Amino acid sequence: MHEAFEGRLDQELISLVAEAAGEMKRPAYIVGGWVRDVLLGRDSKDIDVVVAGSGIELASRVAEKTGKKGHVKVFKNFGTAMLRHGSWEVEFVGARKESYRASSRKPVVEDGTLEDDMRRRDFTINAMAISLNKKDHGKLLDPFNGIRDLRDKKIRTPLDPDITYSDDPLRMMRAIRFATQLDFDIDPDSFEAIKRNAQRIEIVSMERVMEEFNKIMLAEVPGRGLKMLRASGLLPHFFPELEALHGVEVVDGKAHKDNFFHTIQVLDNLAQRTNDLWLRWAALLHDIAKPATKRYEKEHGWTFHGHEFLGQKMVPRIFRRLKLPMNEKMKYVQKLVLLHLRPIALTENIVTDSAVRRLLFEAGDDIDDLMMLCEADITSGNRDKVKRYLENFQLVRKKLKETEEKDRLRNWQPPVSGEEIMETFGIPPSKEVGLIKTAIREAILEGIIPNEHDAARDLMKKEGEKLGLKAANSKN
Ligand code: CTP
Repeated sequence: MHEAFEGRLDQELISLVAEAAGEMKRPAYIVGGWVRDVLLGRDSKDIDVVVAGSGIELASRVAEKTGKKGHVKVFKNFGTAMLRHGSWEVEFVGARKESYRASSRKPVVEDGTLEDDMRRRDFTINAMAISLNKKDHGKLLDPFNGIRDLRDKKIRTPLDPDITYSDDPLRMMRAIRFATQLDFDIDPDSFEAIKRNAQRIEIVSMERVMEEFNKIMLAEVPGRGLKMLRASGLLPHFFPELEALHGVEVVDGKAHKDNFFHTIQVLDNLAQRTNDLWLRWAALLHDIAKPATKRYEKEHGWTFHGHEFLGQKMVPRIFRRLKLPMNEKMKYVQKLVLLHLRPIALTENIVTDSAVRRLLFEAGDDIDDLMMLCEADITSGNRDKVKRYLENFQLVRKKLKETEEKDRLRNWQPPVSGEEIMETFGIPPSKEVGLIKTAIREAILEGIIPNEHDAARDLMKKEGEKLGLKAANSKN
């Protein structure tokens, strides 16, 4: 028995699989991610079992033993079955040789041996197996030296990488995802093969590409993965907007910064402080409209006027194309992209209370996330400058806090409702109601009246009069 697996194979479910396979006289093995994770000292409850013969039959037999037959899910087309048991999830598959038609990812399944099965897997570190058979129970089978690659922190394919990647182009994304998650390097031959085959990522569904991309986004240092995505040539095939951030233009000897590497640095700064996927996405997209808004002005040098507005417009288009959710997550990213320059404006010495109030009003509950993004956006190489900027942001935080305590604008509700306006003047829903509401909101944000009902009601009456309205009820 390999020492990493001592005690690991006695778990009830694994014992039952071994027992069932023994009774059926079918050699069975645990393969893939679980084996890798145990060797890395990571806990995992997803198990893949390969059995000589039918995975579906073995799954049913194990299910009978657990007394929970109903929990087997059979995928007839693939000849696989899945069994859930408590927090465990076991997938059963018959050993098979697979070949792929070049134009599609659908496998043509034939019966095969365990070694054939391992050969057609993505990486050597995912192509190891643990025997569940009596004669060599717990023995590690490692035909492609995955153990060595785990030790050397290498992502390598069992076969010629051109074959492995063209069998399933998603594996090019997976190579970068594993390298990023595990802090491994991709074998140079493999990396060259990704460059050669990059265009084939276009035959993979966007959902699957994004699943890998989001795992990269959630890694400890996502920027490392993004650099690999660009260097490999994969990026422009599914995310041209991000690719377009790359590059430096020089006019009159003046260069702007490379916005791709800046974005990555912001993302990595932020990743040290949050695991929130969508806040990380806001960092990724905060300067996405810089290429489109870039101008060189003789007096000012490079400018990107309005990139936050155009960026905000680009977010839904990008989300739609990347098959990301078009719900409140998208709106949240959009809002942070739009507002990402606003706290910087508040670091200026003379800043009006109304500017602070307006930011609180617009950011609402996302104000803390916005501040985190802005702090991550400071990427100067000059330490003194960074320190000074961060201190300025501390002052902004203080101003925000004081204003919030005083005016409670974070989740602002109008102190006088539309109904109250309609009732007071005896009018139906109309343009006038909107005009009065806006006047009240503006007066509060400008600090002309306090954020309170009575003051707002007084203003409502004055505004109503200006519009030629009369209070319908004498008590008003
Ligand atoms: N696999 C493969 N090619 C793919 C996807 C998966 O060869 N495109 C193989 C690998 O051997 C992998 C196993 O199928 O280990 C299970 O795949 P999956 O569950 O997607 O990944 P894990 O390796 O378990 O890793 P993770 O849980 O982090 O996704």
